[in-house]
Amino acid sequence: MLSKTIKTKSSQETYDFGKRLGEAFSFPLVVFLRGEMGAGKTVFSKGFVKGMGIDDEVTSPTYTIVNEYGDPARIFHFDLYRLQDGDELYEMGFEDYLNLGGTLILEWPDLLADDVFEHKLEITLKSAVATPDQREIVLETDDPEIMEILNTI
Ligand SMILES: Nc1ncnc2c1ncn2[C@@H]1O[C@H](COP(=O)(O)OP(=O)(O)O)[C@@H](O)[C@H]1O
Ligand SMILES: [Mg+2]
Repeated sequence: MLSKTIKTKSSQETYDFGKRLGEAFSFPLVVFLRGEMGAGKTVFSKGFVKGMGIDDEVTSPTYTIVNEYGDPARIFHFDLYRLQDGDELYEMGFEDYLNLGGTLILEWPDLLADDVFEHKLEITLKSAVATPDQREIVLETDDPEIMEILNTI
């Protein structure tokens, strides 16, 4: 397991880091994106999608469950907060999304914690009340190809 922590001092820095990360990958990822409300998941996602070369507007998928970016779509951004369990997700066709071979960004992914994905990267944004404009971004992966790239950024 590789674990790497980055600190940002503003929302712009989190966006920029997301963008740099998105630019670094030339293969599709499954990103587990964690963090409390207001931690910066949407800010990070905006940069990440941009870095992957897509200019679409990125919004929180809270009400839609999934947002698709790119034409044809190649990033699928899920908010699993309101789902009961993994079964509910697979019932809404999650397998089909996986088979499209795009990148998945999964917010509130704990219901998928036991599932196995190729190229999985876990990202956790952490904030502290005392430092409202700072975030710690923790990156964790077991995937050798992702590790190699994280070591270069
Ligand atoms: N270092 C930082 N990184 C990201 N967001 C930050 C940072 N500092 C302050 N913020 C603010 O925190 C909020 C994060 O919101 P958002 O990305 O919507 O969070 P989430 O999607 O996790 O609920 C924004 O208002 C943003 O301006
Ligand atoms: Mg959000």
